[in-house]
Amino acid sequence: MKNKIITLVSAICFMLLLSENIFANVRYLRLAYRDDPSTTIVIGWSNDGTSTNAQVYYGDTDLGTAWDTYPNSHGIDTITSYRNLTNNFSRITGLTPNTIYYFVVKDDQGVSARYSFKTITDNPNDSLKFISGGDSRTGAPLIEPSDCRQRRQSGNMLVARIRPNFISFTGDCVFSENIIQVNQFWSDWFQDWTLTYGPDGRIAPVCVTFGNHEVTDDFRLLFDITNSDNHYALSFGGTLLRFYTLKSDENVSACDNAAQLSWFLDDLQTHTGNANEPFWKFVQYHIPMVPHGYYSPNQPQIDCWANNFQQYKIRLAMEGHTHVTKYTWPIIPSTDAGAEKGFIQDTINGTVYIGEGGWGAPLRTLYSPNGWTRDQGSFDAYQVVFVSKYRTEIKTAQFTNVSSVGQLTDSDPAWSLPSGISVWAPANGSTVVLTNPDVSGIETLHKMALNSRVYPNPATNTINIEFNTFTTDKKATVSIYNGMAKHMSSVAISDMSNTTKVNVSDLKSGAYFIYIKYGNTIDCHKIIITH
Ligand SMILES: [Fe+2]
Repeated sequence: MKNKIITLVSAICFMLLLSENIFANVRYLRLAYRDDPSTTIVIGWSNDGTSTNAQVYYGDTDLGTAWDTYPNSHGIDTITSYRNLTNNFSRITGLTPNTIYYFVVKDDQGVSARYSFKTITDNPNDSLKFISGGDSRTGAPLIEPSDCRQRRQSGNMLVARIRPNFISFTGDCVFSENIIQVNQFWSDWFQDWTLTYGPDGRIAPVCVTFGNHEVTDDFRLLFDITNSDNHYALSFGGTLLRFYTLKSDENVSACDNAAQLSWFLDDLQTHTGNANEPFWKFVQYHIPMVPHGYYSPNQPQIDCWANNFQQYKIRLAMEGHTHVTKYTWPIIPSTDAGAEKGFIQDTINGTVYIGEGGWGAPLRTLYSPNGWTRDQGSFDAYQVVFVSKYRTEIKTAQFTNVSSVGQLTDSDPAWSLPSGISVWAPANGSTVVLTNPDVSGIETLHKMALNSRVYPNPATNTINIEFNTFTTDKKATVSIYNGMAKHMSSVAISDMSNTTKVNVSDLKSGAYFIYIKYGNTIDCHKIIITH
């Protein structure tokens, strides 16, 4: 009997060993994006620095750990040594949208376990489900709770059960100012991230945001993000969603980061009023405009960003930092009577703000709600966001009883949540619904090539505007904006059948956006003025 037990225990141990990465020198796998989430992915992992000749072997059929039977392979594009980790990044391109890929990593020391990921659809008629949350740092010794890591782990385990298309992380992964422990903090964080993997090895990619506690960190070296200033944009589902990640900063006023602002406005204008227009634009950043606890409003951020959110129809802003949970009603920046802390409710044009962190970090006490606060609470949670072109729904998943929450699979409907999940049910309802008033207009835009032409580009003193077809009254309006979205001038066109000359000699050298409005159409052109 004793021998049978020993044999059984040995067999179980062997199976457990097989399921771990004991053969390949691979740990802390994480997936991210540098480019189109429908056709590319970044596979990142760490090792102890002794691994050589690592390759990712992958394909759309599950071939287990039989690495040499996978049809595709890709090596390491970049290796970083950072936070006492050797980080390897394999940037894979040419993938098929909306497809499950299975992969292993093989190096000179063996083969990893088999993992999988799913590319994002490129069809805006499909829907997406993503998790938005942040603030997973552990507490400061003695003065903050010591159970933060356990609570973070609960949230990570819940990710595996929810099985999102991707995760938007709104910052403050760890407490990086603690220079003595920061390396350990990152190892712990990546170790805990493995809890987000599904039981079948499914890994959801993460889009990271720079938080104030990452002030000494370089996310390029840990997640292979593209931009040294931590701002970037991705398109999910083709034209379904343009997703912006901004760097917020406690020490630098939002508009003082001129490079980020210029890039942001440029990208917004490139995706507004033309065939690039997505059905939705969302933004994530760490520090909230108006915190619902602990901190003061960030007036420079309100002044710099909120008007642009309104003008360019960013319908959802995801914030972190405060370690509480809130939904606002749709709001716009305002100083009118009835405005509160710089905002007023506007159901048609407003942005819904959600957040504000709480993925394990020490919870904070709430302020009294603002008039435009829909609901607020203080507990461990993140939001689950469901996106279709007509409708976006937001729910808040709390980290309670995670071990009894069911496990979603690929055969479950895209919008489902697992059984037994604890969904926050505040007074104004458990689901925030955003309906898209722009669907028909955007669908029209997608079918149209631009009907107008602006030349020369670059221009010096004069631009010419011509049209292929005309409205019945042949009238159009031209509005010129600079790269900071400041209106420079407008010109009325009385006869679209003729070439119209517009004097631009007064404009300084730089990039400008020409909006041409006629009938129900707005064409947008970017031009360069040089003197
Ligand atoms: Fe923070």
